[in-house]
Amino acid sequence: MEHIRSIEELVRWKSEGHEKKLGFVPTMGALHDGHLSLVRLSQSKCDRTLVSIYVNPTQFNNPEDLAKYPNTLESDLQALEMMGCDAVFLPDAQLLYPQGLKSRDFDFDGLDRNMEGAGRPGHFEGMATVVTRFFELIGPDLAIFGEKDFQQLSIIRNVVAKEHWPVEIVPAAISREADGLAMSSRNMRLLPQEREDAAQIYAVLSSAVSKLNPAETTPKEFERECAKALNKVPSIHVEYVSCCDALTLEQVDTFITTRSTRVFAAVQCGKVRLIDNLPLF
Ligand code: PAJ
Repeated sequence: MEHIRSIEELVRWKSEGHEKKLGFVPTMGALHDGHLSLVRLSQSKCDRTLVSIYVNPTQFNNPEDLAKYPNTLESDLQALEMMGCDAVFLPDAQLLYPQGLKSRDFDFDGLDRNMEGAGRPGHFEGMATVVTRFFELIGPDLAIFGEKDFQQLSIIRNVVAKEHWPVEIVPAAISREADGLAMSSRNMRLLPQEREDAAQIYAVLSSAVSKLNPAETTPKEFERECAKALNKVPSIHVEYVSCCDALTLEQVDTFITTRSTRVFAAVQCGKVRLIDNLPLF
């Protein structure tokens, strides 16, 4: 597996396989099986796969979250090597942000209005700035994004369509632990009891989804019931539970079963912020 740290190395690696279909998986490292499922998906669709590892400061609105972001570079590289990943891109801030750590301006057509966009100002601008910079440098044919960060995926699709990036965006399903908790690099910061409690996020949401009768329940009632059940779990404090249209990410005020809709949740579990989402219909 090639370790690429400079633009020169990247240009050379690209020119060695310019006729091959290139798949790109952007990550911030601390890799788990969720990330690795994205790598596998890229490998199944492309001739070569490049994974980037870069903890992007401009998308962190909370300095403590940035400072505490786990770094497991050695084992990340080992896992990627074992999977037969072709190259890993390990840029530094100077390479990605030659003009300094600033985000570009974007208009996401309201996709950033709710949920993560409301609670984390500047997060999506920072994320889209680094992802478009990667597209510019790497020029991938295809890039994979997990549905775990559904709003991020929607925003990247919007930017790619409006700015005409010649890259196919491929979604990957959420990978979960055996007890249903969505895999996340942040899970390793949970204390043992919090880790046990965190399984309730998926347990509560999936049970509510399976019991939902959309003719008899309003989205508000559904959200309130889920939040109430989650807030009963000792380590959990709900930030939001929102039923949103899967295309516009606008909160819905009536259930329309012919319209693709998802339930999204963000909770504080101990000191760790966790998100998850599930399809309703
Ligand atoms: P990171 O949180 O490292 O996630 C990298 C990719 O892995 C994202 O597309 C994310 O949605 C996906 N992912 C994480 N957990 C997953 C899970 N349990 N199942 C499926 N996919 C999962 O997202 C970022 O990094 C950054 O914002 C980035 C796009 C790299 C830009 O800095």
